[in-house]
Amino acid sequence: MENRIKQLRDELNRHNHNYYVLNSPEISDKDFDLMMKELEDLESRFPEFYDPLSPTQRVGSDLSKGFMHVTHERPMLSLANTYSIGEVDEWFDRVRKGLEGEDFEITGEMKYDGTSISITYENGRLTRAVTRGDGTQGDDVTRNVMTIRSIPLVLQPGDWPQKFEIRGEILMPWKVFDEINREREYNEEPLFANPRNAASGTLKTQDPREVARRRLDAIFYYLLSDDLPADNHFDNMMAAKRWGFKVTGEIKILHSVDEVNDYIEFWDSERKKLPVATDGLVFKVNSLRQQLNLGYTAKSPRWAVAYKFNPENACTRLRFVSFETGRMGIVTPVANLEPVLLSGTVVKRASLHNADIMRELDIHENDWLYVEKGGEIIPKITGVELDKRLPDSKPVQFVSHCPVCGTPLVKQQGDAAWMCPNKYGCRPQITGRIEHFCARRMMNIDGIGEETAELLYDKGLAVSYADLYDLTADTLSALDRFGEKSAERILKGLEDSRQVPFERVVYALSIPNIGETTAKRVAKSVKSMARLMEMSLEELQAIPDVGPVVAQCIFDFMRDPINISNISRLTAAGLQMQVSADSIASAGNALEGKTIVISGTFSHHSREEYKEMIEANGGKNSGSVSKKTSFVLAGENMGPAKLEKCKSLGIPLVSEDEFLKML
Ligand code: IVH
Repeated sequence: MENRIKQLRDELNRHNHNYYVLNSPEISDKDFDLMMKELEDLESRFPEFYDPLSPTQRVGSDLSKGFMHVTHERPMLSLANTYSIGEVDEWFDRVRKGLEGEDFEITGEMKYDGTSISITYENGRLTRAVTRGDGTQGDDVTRNVMTIRSIPLVLQPGDWPQKFEIRGEILMPWKVFDEINREREYNEEPLFANPRNAASGTLKTQDPREVARRRLDAIFYYLLSDDLPADNHFDNMMAAKRWGFKVTGEIKILHSVDEVNDYIEFWDSERKKLPVATDGLVFKVNSLRQQLNLGYTAKSPRWAVAYKFNPENACTRLRFVSFETGRMGIVTPVANLEPVLLSGTVVKRASLHNADIMRELDIHENDWLYVEKGGEIIPKITGVELDKRLPDSKPVQFVSHCPVCGTPLVKQQGDAAWMCPNKYGCRPQITGRIEHFCARRMMNIDGIGEETAELLYDKGLAVSYADLYDLTADTLSALDRFGEKSAERILKGLEDSRQVPFERVVYALSIPNIGETTAKRVAKSVKSMARLMEMSLEELQAIPDVGPVVAQCIFDFMRDPINISNISRLTAAGLQMQVSADSIASAGNALEGKTIVISGTFSHHSREEYKEMIEANGGKNSGSVSKKTSFVLAGENMGPAKLEKCKSLGIPLVSEDEFLKML
């Protein structure tokens, strides 16, 4: 049995590497899962073969509480920064002088903008992962790092030293960052300012399962050992790549100051196409012997230097600060700016997040503000140009009352957000909940978006989502702007929504702090609304992944008389109030023998769900388009390269709706 366990672990490690590092899976996710299940089963039946580095341990557990401080075997130094080509040239000259005229090579590579990590491997196995900390001591985050799929737990066979340390950067890819922030924005949770914060925040999370869900990545750039495979940095990186690490893919050997300058010029713009954030370039003397000769200053190596890209920023005049009440009642201050061009887009508005952040910036009326697109997506106000401040301008004050309904704002202890407590009388909260309820990923009621939700409320036809089910053809067509057709569309949407699975009903209710993922987990675990409504706080907290805050939110929501009445009306209207066997994607063989690539963004289901559906229906999901692809399940914003490839290979594109019909 030990042999089979070992064989499964080796195979799974190899497939993990193919998938997460090489981007070229050899087997379907379904086959991968089957192997994983077999291994899990064997490991639970034969606990004597337990291995903390088994691929089954990737999912994370919640065992670790608090991090141990550990001392780095070799201190983690930082790099000297430069901000112009001229300064890099000066460094190049210093290296030339330091090496007394000897020939030398430089490697150019990306400076990744994440959080640094040092990982130790012994006998080809990961033994410890430590954050940089203060350079001398860091946090032992091994359990969290083990959940990052592109980091090998056990190395590919090779010439690795018995013991070595490898350093790199833990990153949150742009795509994941966008997805997580979109979800957080929707749920009115604080956004991550940039992928760096998101990555370091995630790494310090005390719950490895949450880390596993955040889909971090890691790229490595420095190998340290008493017994290195090569005498130069470049070859050591290539060795690390063979052992299974993702190493800096853009690394290049450069021979002259001109080549260094060309490298800078090229990557200054090209880096925007990379899937992860970079904030500069790093140049290193390639030969390890020459590195040793050049040595270190107190803080950083003389043999390396960082060149930092200019963050794109601009200074523009504040027109006014608006205060906006959202669906959950949170009031957000927004800086409305004189339009300014930044990283290719016109910026007119930037969130000031909350009263604390606004106070720290100390914004006055008519101030000139610095706007930065560090994250390149969300513009951020980084400061005020005091030289341009008008002498008598007053500080902008946070409002004390809801800008819409005038109710005094309240603040929960320990929370930065001010809230309007008038849940059932404040227009944007009411119409926001109706709009949310009808959105595609919830009840998918075609025809009711923001404007219609407002119209229905203003005309007294709906003050809650439960009222929607009392709408009739007559009441709807009596509204201006409403023809018979639009009324029909809404009624059909309402009718169809009766089949929407329970987990989406839970999400549609707008329970504070319950995003799509939590709603799904709660629904799957609790199974019915009746049960959810009667559960005690302790019982709620016992649901996997539900912490005290979420439990309290559900508990309070389910005891509010208005919510209780709404839920009973929705139940009477025939909505799915429990999990049903066929709410889970029905299995079949409609996709038997088909290899399907998923690309773009979707509105009915998440990518994960589409993956599950493909497999449940006998198809194979593959990561990249090739001759073998049967079709591409194409959402919106499909990448141009993929589109081009489909065209040239004649691979058909299938839209989301067409796909759902196929099933
Ligand atoms: S080399 C002794 N290479 O930048 C030199 N560092 O200020 C070791 N970083 O803490 C670092 N990309 O987190 C190196 N390609 C790269 C890098 C890189 C990002 C970070 C690293 C380090 C900081 C140095």
